[in-house]
Amino acid sequence: MNLPFMDIFKDWAKNYDTAVGGHDEQYHEVFVGYEQMLDEVALNVTGTVLEFGVGTGNLSARIQKGNPLIAIEPSPEMRQIAIDKLGIEVQEGDFLRYPDVPHIDTVVSSYAFHHLTDSEKETAIGQYARTWGHPKFVLLDTMFESPTSRQDIIDWATAKGYSDLVEDLNREYYPYTTTIRSMLETNGYKVTMTQKNKFVWLVVATK
Ligand SMILES: C[S@@+](CC[C@H](N)C(=O)[O-])C[C@H]1O[C@@H](n2cnc3c(N)ncnc32)[C@H](O)[C@@H]1O
Repeated sequence: MNLPFMDIFKDWAKNYDTAVGGHDEQYHEVFVGYEQMLDEVALNVTGTVLEFGVGTGNLSARIQKGNPLIAIEPSPEMRQIAIDKLGIEVQEGDFLRYPDVPHIDTVVSSYAFHHLTDSEKETAIGQYARTWGHPKFVLLDTMFESPTSRQDIIDWATAKGYSDLVEDLNREYYPYTTTIRSMLETNGYKVTMTQKNKFVWLVVATK
């Protein structure tokens, strides 16, 4: 598997839980309310859940308390931390290549879907809808409402001197809210979207 962002997580894995705790100033605003957001995501899943990009397993820990969970993570470093933390199997895979699973009720992901290009996002959504008959799709991630709001945030981060964050915002594929809504509606979903902090939106899509 050759994924573009694995080197970042190789280095970031051991410090990731410090960042989500708000202790990395550059990423503080990205993770404001992180624990409460994951609680809300976990409340929105139903039935058998497939989680992509589990990272260090913070959302998985919540979901596995109430639902059968299939956990997928491509980074070996992140995967090992999640396995040690959760004591469950975390399988190697990614949004587009994953083990064969006969039945899924909910596909969920937090802070990870932006690693796909928009074209790959569209492919993934269509693939899940076809394979599992329109499972519920619950997504938590950074999104922008418009090119202007994207530029405003990049300008704000630049003025603050947050060079890593600026690089990240320019490099990864953070989508526009309108693009995500349209991809899901085209695939037959009804969509609700709620902004949770300066960066992050919660998307809940049902057939
Ligand atoms: C910022 S972390 C988020 C981890 C966790 N979901 C959370 O909310 O804290 C992003 C995760 O997505 C994973 N990732 C990167 N590219 C991916 C892909 N194409 N498919 C699935 N996961 C991917 C990374 O390895 C990393 O563990």
